[in-house]
Amino acid sequence: MKIITRENFSDICRPVFSTTVYTTMTWLLKAWAVIFLLEWTLVSGLVRNSGQYLQNTLVLDPDTLITDEVGEKEFRHEVNPDVNLTALELIEKYGYPAESHTVTTKDGYILTLHRIPHGKNASSGPRPVAFVQHGFFSSSVDWLFNRVDKAIPYMLADRGYDVWLGNARGNTYSRRHVKLSPEKSKFWQFSYDEMGLYDLPAVIDYVLNTTKQPDMYYIGHSMGAGMFFVCMSSYPEYNHKIRFMAAMGPAVYLNNMRGPARYLAPLASLEKVILDLLGHGEILPEYIVKYINTYAPEFCTPEMKLQELCENFVFLLAGFDPAQTNTTELPVILAHTPTTSSTKTLIHFLQAISSGKFRKYDFGSFRNKFIYGQWTPPKYDLSKVKVPVALYHAPNDMLVDTKDVARLAKDLPNLVGSYEVNLTQFNHIDFIYAIDVDVLVNKPLLELMTKY
Ligand SMILES: *[C@@H]1O[C@H](CO)[C@@H](O)[C@H](O)[C@H]1NC(C)=O
Ligand SMILES: *[C@@H]1O[C@H](CO)[C@@H](O)[C@H](O)[C@H]1NC(C)=O
Ligand SMILES: *[C@@H]1O[C@H](CO)[C@@H](O)[C@H](O)[C@H]1NC(C)=O
Ligand SMILES: *[C@@H]1O[C@H](CO)[C@@H](O)[C@H](O)[C@H]1NC(C)=O
Ligand SMILES: *[C@@H]1O[C@H](CO)[C@@H](O)[C@H](O)[C@H]1NC(C)=O
Repeated sequence: MKIITRENFSDICRPVFSTTVYTTMTWLLKAWAVIFLLEWTLVSGLVRNSGQYLQNTLVLDPDTLITDEVGEKEFRHEVNPDVNLTALELIEKYGYPAESHTVTTKDGYILTLHRIPHGKNASSGPRPVAFVQHGFFSSSVDWLFNRVDKAIPYMLADRGYDVWLGNARGNTYSRRHVKLSPEKSKFWQFSYDEMGLYDLPAVIDYVLNTTKQPDMYYIGHSMGAGMFFVCMSSYPEYNHKIRFMAAMGPAVYLNNMRGPARYLAPLASLEKVILDLLGHGEILPEYIVKYINTYAPEFCTPEMKLQELCENFVFLLAGFDPAQTNTTELPVILAHTPTTSSTKTLIHFLQAISSGKFRKYDFGSFRNKFIYGQWTPPKYDLSKVKVPVALYHAPNDMLVDTKDVARLAKDLPNLVGSYEVNLTQFNHIDFIYAIDVDVLVNKPLLELMTKY
């Protein structure tokens, strides 16, 4: 009789069915996932354009064809020059001072921070710190695509803040570790739990130490808000290091999710299947991300009729809002997003959708008992979050529903307010990219920040 430990658990408790059945099932699921995504993308477009969709998008318009020297027809399109720029290059291109810093977490991950120390016309010197944290599948660069008068980092810098942009472990800018290689699945054994437990404390300490400021403002989008609550509830002593926090579309409670991603949630219980399906480490292998980032921008330029297909793909997941989408910026967005992350982060989110609870990663009853000392994962205690928090939510957010935000608002002991964006079509990613995000969200937020 062998003793079951954390290490040999999965060897002993393998699923009972045979490898063949298992492999077949995995392949069927893969095929299902591909068909599902294609169908949704096409169907949502077809419905919108009453049948004209395929004619408009897939049949080539003569205007978009040019003839090259050898007489071959090819697409004529100009790609936005920003597609190849990194976060630092973008900040510099738009005339702001830019810095890059690295921070090593207690468990060895090496994270990159980007900094805009002051506004265009200001000189350097101590000023209040504003830390901005991205969400799932995203990185610091996503905040920098919108026009400088609309994007929150530039707006903050021009209003006198020292702006720091975080990068969670595993994304494009934070794929390093003192010992582990991102080629190995061991590197990817984390979810937003570790981002809150290790990344944020390291980053908060580093930024406050470097700037010699006593505290900071924190702005988090989606998972960037979720990991903040993980951090503050787990280490209450960090509450006094944050002066004020704003959460946009906070990914905390997710059980009222409306988007198609919700249909994946029941799979959370088949953790092993998902891990086999997507790999035990990176959720999308780096080469696939590179492939999307390289080819999507070419097909998503305003001149290309395939652009609608690209938009639909984005709307499908986040909510439908063509009016707020700047089509000139779409290729730049797709050249940088999605970025890499771990499969475990996705599974942790799927668990939150099906359980309706904000709690630690669910390893299954037996491993939970072993790891946490109880059969179900412990909840994060939101009553320990003493920071003043303002919540912003979008009426057309298909991922983080208004009902879920209302529930979070009730659980927070020091709520400043819960604000719904005044635009029915406003969706989850509009907080970063929308044409009117400055008027609808950023300006009221900056106004509110001056009171703290
Ligand atoms: C971006 O980089 C690729 C590959 O290096 C290159 O082919 C392309 O022309 C570049 N695009 C722009 C707009 O600079
Ligand atoms: C910076 O200074 C220039 C020239 O004086 C001015 O046109 C511009 O509006 C200023 N920008 C900001 C953000 O204050
Ligand atoms: C804070 O910065 C000083 C140097 O400025 C350094 O010696 C010290 O180790 C830093 N502390 C932390 C916690 O990073
Ligand atoms: C919301 O937007 C509408 C239309 O732009 C405007 O008339 C209304 O005053 C706004 N409401 C609030 C509360 O700002
Ligand atoms: C759309 O993006 C382009 C490129 O960043 C910018 O020049 C243009 O002003 C933007 N349009 C709007 C309405 O924000």
